[in-house]
Amino acid sequence: MDKTTAKYRIDELRRILKENSDRYYLDNAPTMSDYEFDQLMHELEGLEKEYPEFARADSPTRRVGSDLESGADAAGKTVFVQKPHRYPMLSLGNTYSISEVEEFVARAEKALGGRKFSYCCEQKFDGTAICLTYSSGRLVQALTRGDGTKGDDVTANALQISNIPRTLKGDYPADFEIRGEVLMPYEAFDRLNEERLEQEDPPFANPRNAASGSLKLTDPREVASRGLFCVLYHIPADSLSFESHAQAMEAARSWGLPVSDKARLCHGIDEIKAYIDYWDVQRKYLPYATDGIVVKINEMDCQRALGYTSKFPRWAVAYKFKAEQACTKLLGIDYQVGRTGAVTPVANLEPVQLSGTVVKRATLNNEDQMRQMDIRIGDSVYVEKGGEIIPKITSVELSLRPSGAKVPEFPRLCPDCGTPLVRMDDEARWFCPNTYGCPMQIKGRLMHFVSRKAMDILAGEASIDQFYEASIARRPSDLYKINAYQLLSLPGWQERSARKFLDSVATSRKVPFERVLYALGIRYVGETTARTLARHFGSIDALAAASREQLLEVGDVGEVIAGSVADFFAGSYGREEVSLLKEAGLHFETDPDSIPGRLSDALEGKTIVISGNFSISRDKMKEMIAAHGGRLASSVSSRTSFLVAGEKSGPEKLRKCEKLGVRVISEQELRSMLPGDDGKIREPEPSLF
Ligand code: IVH
Repeated sequence: MDKTTAKYRIDELRRILKENSDRYYLDNAPTMSDYEFDQLMHELEGLEKEYPEFARADSPTRRVGSDLESGADAAGKTVFVQKPHRYPMLSLGNTYSISEVEEFVARAEKALGGRKFSYCCEQKFDGTAICLTYSSGRLVQALTRGDGTKGDDVTANALQISNIPRTLKGDYPADFEIRGEVLMPYEAFDRLNEERLEQEDPPFANPRNAASGSLKLTDPREVASRGLFCVLYHIPADSLSFESHAQAMEAARSWGLPVSDKARLCHGIDEIKAYIDYWDVQRKYLPYATDGIVVKINEMDCQRALGYTSKFPRWAVAYKFKAEQACTKLLGIDYQVGRTGAVTPVANLEPVQLSGTVVKRATLNNEDQMRQMDIRIGDSVYVEKGGEIIPKITSVELSLRPSGAKVPEFPRLCPDCGTPLVRMDDEARWFCPNTYGCPMQIKGRLMHFVSRKAMDILAGEASIDQFYEASIARRPSDLYKINAYQLLSLPGWQERSARKFLDSVATSRKVPFERVLYALGIRYVGETTARTLARHFGSIDALAAASREQLLEVGDVGEVIAGSVADFFAGSYGREEVSLLKEAGLHFETDPDSIPGRLSDALEGKTIVISGNFSISRDKMKEMIAAHGGRLASSVSSRTSFLVAGEKSGPEKLRKCEKLGVRVISEQELRSMLPGDDGKIREPEPSLF
């Protein structure tokens, strides 16, 4: 490569890497896989070594990515205060090749010539880094990595993570820092993404992005519901005088801090390789994501002798596992229109086996990503899952491109109703603007309205299709006008199914205001925002009358949500629909006697975990607990007051309760604690048919 080409490539690589880092750290939405990122970084490191004249202090090879949030959100509210790190928070040199781990070992042995030392092998936890400070045994500060020299102060959020102790026990030092990773278990990640998909919010790409997004939420109560946990793995060497890393970790454990029990001391490369091979397979059975193994030199004096580069310690290396991928053929692309009108390209694939499931469809996200990959119909493509619920296409195998492979054309007209699509400047997605005429959007709104977390009406996609085709229901308020004779005239409907449907419509009239508000499907108003708005304004009339400024006063409401709420009530659809649904008898005010308000304080101060199936849906069970003042947690910890076990409750949770001595109670026992409930499980209300 000549000098000019090298300079061009160096600049290009710096640009690409910087862009991906920003998307990764700031939006939790990386534009490429870790593997691709690391390959490009290595290419840049190689070029900078070969052409030192082009070296720059601000090159991505010399800096850790930054997760620092700018000082204010869209509404102008300050988000996080930045604080300096006492010791810089560095990253680790990483590799995907065993031979580079061998080189690391050989280098260390040479540099430490003749000294006796060992290696501590640990899992590389795939979450988001955190630095905790304990002073006089109390957690006083939690910072994110930030740019390595200063981080965002997320103390209030860290205090909501169930296994981070507020106070320490035993013989702890007066003042020290400890670092580790905040993780979101797969189970919590799947649940969160299901909710986001239901609301047409983009799902998080992986548990790591979900964890870092959750740690940056502005409402600590919301953080508590995300099921995060923490593993600690590093005490900066100069801060305390331990002889070895393993001793430091043992001490931390004795102070009550969460330290991994899977670290092992190894002596030489063979033991290190055995540890790597073991976890490369076993990690698939862990409930959280790991993306490699970290090998650390255990003795502190040896660590000090090896020292640091500007970015990494020389006494540690990370060996990264490649994400599981499969290569298959792209047969075609469907363009799906969601309820908000967003058009998503979805790839149809030749079925392929990947991490235990057969994958036939994968998302391509948006037009830009399709172009970036230069994807063509008939191409062989790589599909990755790595924790995500929706598989994604990560790259194209250009060497296998068949001749005549066709460039897909992203539609300019709505694939459903033919309306020209529009794309706002700041949106990566195309939208169908025919909001109230596009069949997919109409059906999407109905599906959202009837969904479990909204009005919980018993109608699936097939029924909604029938209602739409027969012009029985085109907007949510129509559902309240449907009668048995209309239903029985539709193919496949019988008295029993009609009765069940009408019963659920009738019962939905009791759904509290916050869920009715969510059911309206106002863009960006998910379950949590709906609850916040309902509680703040108390009624739909007050919400509809609120000015932008009044909306912006509500916690977690920024310009985007405020604008969307204001638009909804300014338009005739929103106003008409609310008035028709009021006529149908739905709740449009927070009712102190109904579920959203407090029914009693019977469970005040109790942290409760539920597991299994109950006589009512799990969501109803959660509502009931919250209405009596209980705090719900998704996993069992020493802070759990009790676990309510239903049918088929998870053996893992029960085992944990036994281990921690947490009480397990039945649904009846729970009900008997509540005023006005004698513990009996009641039959559903009589039919209204
Ligand atoms: S030790 C001076 N140990 O991976 C470096 N880091 O890619 C101290 N990570 O920056 C870090 N598991 O955020 C260490 N067992 C482990 C880890 C670990 C995950 C993270 C950490 C680090 C990054 C490097």
